[in-house]
Amino acid sequence: MSKKNLTILAIETSCDDTGISIIKCKPKSEKRKAVFEILSNIVSSQVKIHAQYGGVYPLLAKREHQKNLPTVLKKALKQAGSPKIDLIAVTQGPGLEPCLWQGINFAKELAVKLDLPIVPINHIEAHILANWLDKKQETRNKKQIFPAIALIVSGGHTQLILMKDLGKYKILGETRDDAAGECFDKTARVLGLGYPGGPAIEAEASKSDRDSSSISLPRPMIYHKNYDFSFSGLKTAVLYHYKNQPEKIKKSSKYIQTMAAEIQQAIIDVLIFKTIKAAKEHKVKSIILGGGVIANNELKKQFKAQASKLKLNLLAPPRKFCTDNGAMIAITGYYNWLKRKKRKKNNLNVEANANLRLK
Ligand code: KG4
Ligand code: ZN
Repeated sequence: MSKKNLTILAIETSCDDTGISIIKCKPKSEKRKAVFEILSNIVSSQVKIHAQYGGVYPLLAKREHQKNLPTVLKKALKQAGSPKIDLIAVTQGPGLEPCLWQGINFAKELAVKLDLPIVPINHIEAHILANWLDKKQETRNKKQIFPAIALIVSGGHTQLILMKDLGKYKILGETRDDAAGECFDKTARVLGLGYPGGPAIEAEASKSDRDSSSISLPRPMIYHKNYDFSFSGLKTAVLYHYKNQPEKIKKSSKYIQTMAAEIQQAIIDVLIFKTIKAAKEHKVKSIILGGGVIANNELKKQFKAQASKLKLNLLAPPRKFCTDNGAMIAITGYYNWLKRKKRKKNNLNVEANANLRLK
């Protein structure tokens, strides 16, 4: 199967987005690299449902996935022109266990019905490989990219990973408490901004004239020797600062905008400092970014400036491939399928693993 075109249908349900994508993969030949064509990439967001609680409720999210999956599948197939599918990829973990099971069971039903194999996917690896959906990747060869440092920042994860090659990962550090995206979400909630907090904080921060001296938040663990992160102290600092303001100040747009800009900058400072330190220590050629927080334009701009100063490649997916989507699962399915030695027909024993680690 490796020499012919592969059409992959991928399912993502690890958190609060129901995503199904169909992509066509033309394997690499002597003359060219692998080429990917996205035939459809449907994401049904549950943001409105979870917004009223200020966060994601796993059992509610699971129910929504159950409701959404058949409709999302229909749309994805229709938009793709109902092609013949060769392979099903599905997120195995990490993520919210009830949500993962919903996607996996749906994949199994489909696999039986269409008599297709299933490839289980690590969600973090998929956030990294989302960069390979970009056409620019087709012009770069592996020698130009690796070794690399990957930084994955999402609602559930903050991880710094050394990559010697595609599929070769070593976790250098990760968050000890809240993820960076979670910190955006929780501090936005303190400030009375909407859910998800990242885009809300970014919007307020962009309006700020940023008299940064007026609010000064901690940059947790920035100078620690290791590559771990901690963002819960930042959230607490925001909470106390806010609580100590008179009502009139709390409600002023200037306070909210300045605070949003300082929260955003504190998170960016820590992420950039640790990533650059790891890049220098491991003498890498590239920095690879991924995850929902990378949708933040200010963060991307500052990473770009740092990478160009050090003459490093910077890979960052376009906004729509930063947050959870099926296309990133599909492309990861392609690379994992090629690596597989035994291509079992159905592989119906795939199980959800909420704490799945990159290896
Ligand atoms: O990768 P993702 O879609 O889901 C998980 O795997 O968790 O990431 C969602 C996270 C949320 O915490 C959200 O607030 C954050 O990404 N996010 C952002 C932005 N857009 C989404 N954070 C900062 N700035 C943004 N523009
Ligand atoms: Zn994610």
